[in-house]
Amino acid sequence: MTTPDQITDPNRVLIFDTTLRDGEQSPGATMTHDEKLEIASMLDEMGVDIIEAGFPIASDGDFEAVSEIARRTERATICGLARANFKDIDRCWEAVKHAKSPRIHTFIGTSPLHRAIPNLTMDEMADRIHDTVTHARNLCDNVQWSPMDATRTEWDYLARVVEIAIKAGATTINIPDTVGYTAPNESAELIRRLIAEVPGAEDVIFATHCHNDLGMATANALAAVEGGARQIECTINGLGERAGNTALEEVVMALKVRHDIMPFTTGIDTTKLMAISRRVSAVSGFSVQPNKAIVGKNAFAHESGIHQDGMLKNAETFEIMRPEDVGLTETSLVMGKHSGRAALRSKLKELGYNVEGNQLADVFFRFKALADRKKEVFDEDLIALMQDEERSGEDRIKVESLRVVCGTGGPAEAQLTLTVDGAPLSSEAKGDGPVDAAFNAVKALVDHSARLQLYQVSAVTEGTDAQATVTVRMEEDGRIVSGQSADTDTVVASVRAYVNALNRLMMRREKAGRDAREISYKDAG
Ligand code: KIV
Ligand code: ZN
Repeated sequence: MTTPDQITDPNRVLIFDTTLRDGEQSPGATMTHDEKLEIASMLDEMGVDIIEAGFPIASDGDFEAVSEIARRTERATICGLARANFKDIDRCWEAVKHAKSPRIHTFIGTSPLHRAIPNLTMDEMADRIHDTVTHARNLCDNVQWSPMDATRTEWDYLARVVEIAIKAGATTINIPDTVGYTAPNESAELIRRLIAEVPGAEDVIFATHCHNDLGMATANALAAVEGGARQIECTINGLGERAGNTALEEVVMALKVRHDIMPFTTGIDTTKLMAISRRVSAVSGFSVQPNKAIVGKNAFAHESGIHQDGMLKNAETFEIMRPEDVGLTETSLVMGKHSGRAALRSKLKELGYNVEGNQLADVFFRFKALADRKKEVFDEDLIALMQDEERSGEDRIKVESLRVVCGTGGPAEAQLTLTVDGAPLSSEAKGDGPVDAAFNAVKALVDHSARLQLYQVSAVTEGTDAQATVTVRMEEDGRIVSGQSADTDTVVASVRAYVNALNRLMMRREKAGRDAREISYKDAG
C-alpha cells in the first residue's frame, strides 16, 4: 500500500474524494450504511488516495459508517471531518483510528462572515486554530486543516492562520472555495502566494476544494494545481450542496487527456469511472444530466450527420478520448426472452454484478418479465433492473399491483394494492392524469406530510418501449429523501419511485430515533 505521504513524484496529484461527506451533505442525497460501504470500496478500487468518509460527530450513523469504512479499506487513507473543537476531533479520531492510514480533517470558517458566527476576534480564532490542530496532531500523524471560505478571507489573515496551522502540525492545508466564488486566475494565484510566502509551506501539501456555483469548479481546481496544489478535493458526478463540488471524473480526465499542457498524474483507474458514476447516481437519487462531461449519457453520442460521418471515417475527428478509457463499453444488444440463466449471470458479471443463488433466480424472473415486454434488452436495461432490485430489497412498503384508467373524457382512475410489512392494503383514487391518480392512491394508504419537491422521468434507452427511470424527491420537516425506479410502464415506475422514497423517509425517521409509525397506514379499500 502506498499512502499519500509516501508519494515522492512532485507532479503526482492526490485525489481526495468527498462524495460520502460533502456529496452526501447535499439535500436529498442521503445514502444508507451499506451504500456508503459499497461506494467507499469502489473508490478504493479505483485508486482514490484519500476518502473523506463522513462527519463522525454528525450522527451515530455517520460515526458507524466512517468506522466501518476505516476498518475495511485496503489502500486509501480514510479521513473524517471535525469542527474546530476537541469533542468533534476526539469523535472523529475514534472513527478513523481503525484505518490502516487515518486522517483527521478539521476546519473553521475564517472569512469575516464566518468569523462573525462564533463571534471570535481574529486573535481568538487564531488561538482556537492553534489549539485544535495541536490536539488533532497529538492523536493522529496525518492532519488536514481547512480555513472554510478561504477565498473570501483577507489575504493577510489567511496567510497568518495557515502558518499557525502548519506550526501546530497540520500536514495538509486545504484552501476551500466554499461558495464557488473564485475564478481560475485567482485560484492559481492564491495557492502560489501561500506556498511562496507562508513559512513552512514547503513541508505540507496544499489542497484545493472548489464548489461549482459559477460553473468553474473544475477549471478552478486545475488552476490551483498549476499554482502548486497537489491534492484535489472532489466528488463523483460533482455531487454536493447547491451546484455541487468539483467532479472527480472531470479533473482526472482533463489531467489525462491534456497531459501535454498539464503534466500531472493521478492514481485513478479511469476505466472504472462510468460504473461508479452510475452507482453514485443510483444510491443518491441524483441523476446525471445527459450532457454532463465524461459520464453523461450523451458524452460519447454523435447525433449530427457530419459528426457521424467523421466518426465512421476516423473516431478521432470528434473524440478526444475513447469511451473505453472511462469504462463505457459499446452498448450491446444483450439478450431476448430466450436467453438462459447462465447467459444472464455472465452478462451481469461483465456489468459488475455478482449474482448467485436465490438472488439470481429473482433477477432472472424479473429479466424474463422485462424481455416479454421489451424485444431488445440492453446493458442499460439490466443495470436499471439491478438497481431496482437492490433498492427495493429492504423496503417495508411494496407495490403489489396497479391498474390505471386514463385518456380523454374524464379524470384518470387508479386501483392500487400495496403490502406494508407483508400485509395487503388497497385503495382507489382519481387524479389529474395517471400519475396524479396513482400517487393519490398511495397517499390514501400511506398518510404523510412530505412535500413532493421533484418528479423526473428519463428514458433508459431509445424507443417507445424503453424503460423509464423515475426520480422522486420529497421533503418533510427538513428531511429530504429521494426514491427511484425503472419500468417500461412509466406510471408503475413512478409509483415504485414514490414508494421507494416513502421507505427511505421511514428509515430516516427511525434513524432520527422517532416513531416510524408517524406514517400511518389506513385501509382505504
Ligand atoms: O466547502 C467547504 O468549505 C467544506 C469544508 C468543510 C472543507 O466543505
Ligand atoms: Zn465543501
